[in-house]
Amino acid sequence: MPLSRRSTLTQFLIEERRRFPSASGDFNALILDVALACKAIARAVAFGELGGMLGNHGAAGTDASVNVQGETQKKLDVISNEMFISANNWGGHLAGMASEEMDGPYQIPRSSPRGKYLLVFDPLDGSSNIDVNVSVGSVFSILRAPQDVIDSGRDVTAADFLQPGTQQLAAGYALYGPTTMLVLTVGNGVNGFTLDPNLGEFKLTHHQIQVPADTQEFAINASNSRFWEAPVKRYVDECLAGRTGPREQDFNMRWIASMVAEAHRILMRGGVFLYPRDTKDAAKPGRLRLLYEANPIAMLMEQAGGRASTGREPMLGVQPTGLHQRIGLVFGSKHEVERIERYHREPVAMKDNTPLFAERSLFRD
Ligand code: F6P
Repeated sequence: MPLSRRSTLTQFLIEERRRFPSASGDFNALILDVALACKAIARAVAFGELGGMLGNHGAAGTDASVNVQGETQKKLDVISNEMFISANNWGGHLAGMASEEMDGPYQIPRSSPRGKYLLVFDPLDGSSNIDVNVSVGSVFSILRAPQDVIDSGRDVTAADFLQPGTQQLAAGYALYGPTTMLVLTVGNGVNGFTLDPNLGEFKLTHHQIQVPADTQEFAINASNSRFWEAPVKRYVDECLAGRTGPREQDFNMRWIASMVAEAHRILMRGGVFLYPRDTKDAAKPGRLRLLYEANPIAMLMEQAGGRASTGREPMLGVQPTGLHQRIGLVFGSKHEVERIERYHREPVAMKDNTPLFAERSLFRD
């Protein structure tokens, strides 16, 4: 029977599982545990100041605590991380977890069974937006643990998580906006679920989301423009030149500074997002993190007919080298991402540090 427009997440997962008759049900149970964490976080976020949860983490009168990225931790970052852990550390589905908010891998307590999956997550992405009541989200990725981890039940190491994005079994995000949504891929397209606040259930509201291949909307933090590499500068210059430039059409720009919200906009109506590699800080090749930001969003985009890239190569093919590795990220409408990749391949001709190809008709298609 086809799924009705208002199936619950549980019904949806049961239908998906029927495609794999030998599946144990662990995978579905894991996704439901992740969804439970997201519902708990949605509730905490919704209480805002009333819940006493805004502001920085750390005892009053002391300096705010800082995570492994060197970023100030918000109270809700820490609480959301704890919610992910407590929803997922007992069910027997996981061999280990890794998160933006923890330096190293989280070991499943010996008091609970260990399973065959690895969960990687950013519990609250865009958290600098919390205090100003702008949408934030959780991002997650599910990998299979290496076979020797499954066989031996040994503690996980960072190396166990260093798998390219092509290995992801599922990826998704929860967006805590005017409505709370869970957007999920289990490798068979992308579906969106809206949280019904009366029932506390995610219901299927957005079937098989498709990203339009073309767009006239881009998102980038333009304050970094002096640090951009020439291909990115070329792309943005051409968009800004609008109808009278080489693209011969006007472009619109958006920047929420909340990647989940930007990804959601792009899944809903197309667009392109760039947080490219730049020269701002030699120690940071890009701003966003490969394992728990770039890869899950890349899987969602590709499953929805979009594209995700480092600018130079497909994101999902990148072999990770570190748990908290940063990377340049470009994603969204396929034709625009392909264009940006092409600009990275083409030779850069510079005149007074300005890419010549910004000029009308030069290097034109
Ligand atoms: O940590 C990631 C993040 O908050 C993303 O959600 C967002 O896209 C980006 O950082 C915003 O960066 P910036 O502060 O440079 O605009």
